[in-house]
Amino acid sequence: MKKLLLLMLAGFTAQAQDAKMNAFVTRLMGQMTVDEKIGQLNLVTPGGFTATGATVSQNVEANIKAGKVGGLFGIYDPKLVRKPQEMAVNDSRLHIPLLFGLDVIHGHKTSFPIPLAISCSWDLSRIEQSARIAATEATADGLNWVFSPMVDIARDPRWGRISESSGEDPYLGSLIAKAMIRGYQGSNLSVPNTVLACVKHFALYGAAEAGRDYNTVDMSRIKMYEYYLPPYKAAVEAGVGSVMSSFNEVDAVPATANRWLLTDLLRKQWGFKGLLVTDYTAINEMIAHGLGDLKQVSALALKAGTDMDMVGEGFLTTLKQSLKEGKITQAEIDQACRRVLEAKYKLGLFDDPYRYLDESRPAREILTPQNRAFARELAVRTHVLLKNSHQTLPLKKSGSIALVGPLANDRKNMLGTWNIAGDWKQAVTVLEGIQHVAGNVTVKYAKGANFTSDTLLIRRLNAQNGLVDVDPRPTQVLIDEAVQAAQQSDVVVAVIGEAQEMSGEAASRSDIGIPENQQELLRALKKTGKPLILVVMSGRPLTLGWENEHADAILQTWFGGTESGHAIADVLFGNYNPSGKLTATFPRNVGQIPIYYNHKNTGRPYQGVLLDKFKSRYLDVPNDPLFPFGYGLSYTTFTYSPVTLSKTRPKGNDQVEATVTVTNSGSVAGEETVQLYITDPVASVTRSVKDLKGFQKVFLQPGESRKVTFTVTPEQLKFYHSDLSYDWEPGEFQVHIGTNSAEVKSAGMNWGR
Ligand code: BGC
Repeated sequence: MKKLLLLMLAGFTAQAQDAKMNAFVTRLMGQMTVDEKIGQLNLVTPGGFTATGATVSQNVEANIKAGKVGGLFGIYDPKLVRKPQEMAVNDSRLHIPLLFGLDVIHGHKTSFPIPLAISCSWDLSRIEQSARIAATEATADGLNWVFSPMVDIARDPRWGRISESSGEDPYLGSLIAKAMIRGYQGSNLSVPNTVLACVKHFALYGAAEAGRDYNTVDMSRIKMYEYYLPPYKAAVEAGVGSVMSSFNEVDAVPATANRWLLTDLLRKQWGFKGLLVTDYTAINEMIAHGLGDLKQVSALALKAGTDMDMVGEGFLTTLKQSLKEGKITQAEIDQACRRVLEAKYKLGLFDDPYRYLDESRPAREILTPQNRAFARELAVRTHVLLKNSHQTLPLKKSGSIALVGPLANDRKNMLGTWNIAGDWKQAVTVLEGIQHVAGNVTVKYAKGANFTSDTLLIRRLNAQNGLVDVDPRPTQVLIDEAVQAAQQSDVVVAVIGEAQEMSGEAASRSDIGIPENQQELLRALKKTGKPLILVVMSGRPLTLGWENEHADAILQTWFGGTESGHAIADVLFGNYNPSGKLTATFPRNVGQIPIYYNHKNTGRPYQGVLLDKFKSRYLDVPNDPLFPFGYGLSYTTFTYSPVTLSKTRPKGNDQVEATVTVTNSGSVAGEETVQLYITDPVASVTRSVKDLKGFQKVFLQPGESRKVTFTVTPEQLKFYHSDLSYDWEPGEFQVHIGTNSAEVKSAGMNWGR
């Protein structure tokens, strides 16, 4: 009763606040000319900072003063942000403050691991905390809007932006989206350390054909609803304040002009009330998509439900003419303008345009020891132990190691892609990390290999920011030096993988193996006979077939951010027992892509009989991946009891408790992520072989056992039908609980109406 009253009270307060906002915005809009309204729809980025697209905005100052800019992105620091804000507030006719945005993707100046890495922690409270810290640092730096979280489901590791995603699973992806939004936005946007979040890229951007960035997307509605749309929907449910439309087409209409997507689905069905911004010049790009000239595509974007035009100035330069010609309506312009003003209102900018411009904050709140400590605490949880024969890891804090590889002592590539404000000079290298964590160990460092010997690739990687240093010595000389270091040491730790800009935007690869010259180094190291430990940094799953066969241990560390070197040393020397679990499948080779755990069964499933001909399989590679979704080892081992169900014939809205006992059967304490999957083997549409429906983390001392219980409800059995209705169907279900998507214990039940 009390709860209900409180809820009603909250509802009334929200309504009263909305009414106040509406009255304010209506009054303001009453004073605005058409040009000023269109001006609010213009989002610009000035030159001179990190450019995240091919063009930057011109005449920014003059346009701000003329009331032709609604927001700015790409600059930060309260001193720098103050200038344009003053121009807008003092010099434009109606004194409307600007929004200030930035791609704060995995931390602001304290850089956290890349999003794909963070997702491997499966640690929702720390994920939320990372967004909270990012919001605090970003607002201390003058920002009020972040272009995050990116929630695109990615099943194709060739796509470089898989690094920015939470991987392939819609359930986990949705929970992460919600956690991030809570972290960024808090419960009140006008508080000076919360920011407007922006969920992106709406929609389906991760399904680009052949993994080539910006490529065509084409998929059935049922696949969209079941697998690709849930994280965006979850973001809307979590109250995200803005949405960014994607570059790709959806149902043959680019997202930015897709009225079904932006209005019918997002606003009408899901109830999104916030601001919708395009991606970088996405309106202009619809000319190349083949939808018409700039005037035409700008009108299409507005009519579809777009509010703000990022960089392209199609709105600024053509909407007035389209209005005169009757191609768009005044109401459509007003609607978009209202949404921009509402975002500013919610951020408290009309009360105080300088709310986020406290120049004393950066020194106190950015890159603090606490933030760095948290970055380390998070980074250790993102590492995934892929292999560990004969307990090669953890290493002893004595003896000698040869530390080799292009990433062993590289500072410039530690943060990972999309660290716009991150300063690589603040990053800890692996060599430093080892020296700090295991001071008594003798470390012989040798670079051993450049990132690649492909000079064109190096030029491309360095075209934007020059982070790839090249050792000019011949390949063989580098290798010989590393081999010598190996021969003089007890073990070899090779820190290999991708340069950070080999993943991220416009960084698709058709070969996702370790570059050939690094493999050459590994082959030479293997021949020394010394235990070979690989630390792999990458922004995507790589094909690690040879490495898995020949290395003694493999630790996948992704790109770990500012504290990467410390975190890697913490895990290598056993200060932290690795607990990360993959959120994207590692294929055996590129030909298996797309490969993901929640696939369909087909009518001719391959059941392991080698000479069976007419089966869904390859002649040259198994169907299963190298490492499945959910996979990740620990320095200890966990054993699972069989699954018990509280009911095997539930009915209607019953709940079923599914329980296993998990035991730490090894000799060190460790954390396990216990995963729940459900299969619906008979339904009116084909279903996937299994879907993740829950997980729990348990920390167990050696020898300790814990009962882990999941509550299964009919809600978890629901799925989309051909007519897009969403419901469950009675019948048989299998409940699987296990350590990864492929190694599970199962029990069956029959759920009746
Ligand atoms: C990216 C977006 C980003 C925007 C602004 C685009 O190129 O696709 O993710 O938010 O630039 O930097």
